[in-house]
This record gives sequence, structure tokens and C-alpha cells, in this order.
Amino acid sequence: MTGSPTQVPEPSATATAPPMIAMKDVQKHFGELHVLKDINLEVPRGQVVVVLGPSGSGKSTLCRTINRLEPIDSGDIRIEGKSLPAEGKDLARLRADVGMVFQSFNLFAHKTILQNVTLAPTKVRKQSKSEVNARALELLERVGIASQKDKYPAQLSGGQQQRVAIARALAMNPKIMLFDEPTSALDPEMVNEVLDVMVSLAKEGMTMLVVTHEMGFARQAADRVIFMADGAVIEDTDPDTFFDHPKTDRAKDFLGKILGH
Ligand SMILES: Nc1ncnc2c1ncn2[C@@H]1O[C@H](COP(=O)(O)OP(=O)(O)O)[C@@H](O)[C@H]1O
Ligand SMILES: [Mg+2]
Repeated sequence: MTGSPTQVPEPSATATAPPMIAMKDVQKHFGELHVLKDINLEVPRGQVVVVLGPSGSGKSTLCRTINRLEPIDSGDIRIEGKSLPAEGKDLARLRADVGMVFQSFNLFAHKTILQNVTLAPTKVRKQSKSEVNARALELLERVGIASQKDKYPAQLSGGQQQRVAIARALAMNPKIMLFDEPTSALDPEMVNEVLDVMVSLAKEGMTMLVVTHEMGFARQAADRVIFMADGAVIEDTDPDTFFDHPKTDRAKDFLGKILGH
């Protein structure tokens, strides 16, 4: 402590900037099933959050509510201080701010790798074709597959396709990247090439929410781990604390199963 207690500290930029993601009192049901129970979660800019939890605990639904692929029953979700627009142009803009990568890559089978990356920015952003192409090539370079740009998805391995899916999401210049089990469908030897791209994104300061069972990634790249069970966040801490000293029986049980083989 410097300064006397009566001094009012200068508000710093980080203290005043709204969090990148702010979920407040979020509730969601699927019929009778209470799938998100009073979620309160703030993610500051540049933070990498790994979301863990057993199957069915609500991890995918949490991700999907953040870019409004799923509506919520009540509560509030803000991206950089702005509430989620219900529909229309504002929603399209918000979706562009929040990139999402799923377990299944969902590339367009009849478009080339380059076209897969240029399609959305060509439609949404008012950029020239050559600008969009140049940016797409830069992103393909960055994920290590520029040489495959004229091939079709089926000609690439799963790991390569997932890296294209990441480049495609980045092409919209998102502020946040959501990853929902991005390596779960991959053969084991391809997992690391995808995780490496994610680690580099994290190091560059991207705000990320990552649902994954890759504990190495969580240890290496996460600033924070949240653990979900039955639709609620029941642990929220740094990775070392979570892995070395889980508090709840649910988390201990989960870690025992996942690390026990
Ligand atoms: N569209 C849906 N309609 C009805 N129930 C759903 C739907 N999507 C998910 N659920 C249910 O909500 C719960 C949470 O699912 P999900 O968010 O996919 O969990 P996780 O990703 O942690 O496995 C599960 O019980 C699942 O069966
Ligand atoms: Mg899921």
C-alpha cells in the first residue's frame, strides 16, 4: 500500500472497462429441465476460461446462450457492456463479435478451404474481395494450412478441418472465441495441432471460453476454471487450485474419473 487511506485511487482502464462477457442471474429451462441455474459469470477481456463438468451439466447450453443460439428465460447477458439484442442487424453484429467452434467442424463440403473462410466476411463485412482474400490467407497461414487452400474439406484430416473452422471464425474478427469440445471428435494424434492454435490465440490475448476435457490445455492455457454440475457453476477458481485442491465432491469425482486412466 502506498498513499493514505483517504486518497481516492485513480480509476484504471481495467477497473472501468465492462467485462467482455457478463452473465447475470441467467436461468434457462428445456421444458421441465432446469438446464442453467442462476448463472453469474464475468469474463474480463483477454481471460481464458476453461469450462469443465460431466456430460449433461449444461456446458454447451452455456456457450450457446452467449451468442444467442439459445434464448434464456430470465437474467441478462452482456458483451462488453451491451445487452444481447433479440434479433435483426444488431444480433448479426453481436454474432460476428462472438466466434464459435464446435466439436463437428461443419465446413461447407462443396466450397474450397479458402472459400469456407471468405464466405461469411464477404457477406457481412463491407470489404473488397481482395481484402477478404488476403485476410483469409493470412489466417490460413496462421493455423498452418495455407498450402491446402484450394482443396475441399473432405480432402483434409479432421485436425486440419478443425483448424480451418478456427480460421473461419477468426475471419469475422471476433472479440470472443467460444470453443465447445473442439478436439473431442479428433483422432488422438490430431488433438495437439488444434490445441497449439488455441494456445497461441490465448497468448495473443483473445478472450476465450473453452469447453474441453484436455486437462493439459487447461493447466497450460487457462487463467480460470469453472466447473459445472446439474446446470450450476459450483467451482470457479484458477487451474492449479482446481486440479490440486478441488472443493466439492462432484469435482473430486469428476477429476478422479478423467485423470484416473
Ligand atoms: N435442445 C434441447 N432440448 C431439450 N433438452 C436439451 C436440449 N439441449 C440440451 N438439452 C439437455 O440439457 C442438458 C444440458 O445439455 P448440454 O448443455 O448439452 O450439456 P453438456 O454440454 O454439459 O453435456 C442435458 O440434459 C441435455 O440433454
Ligand atoms: Mg456439450
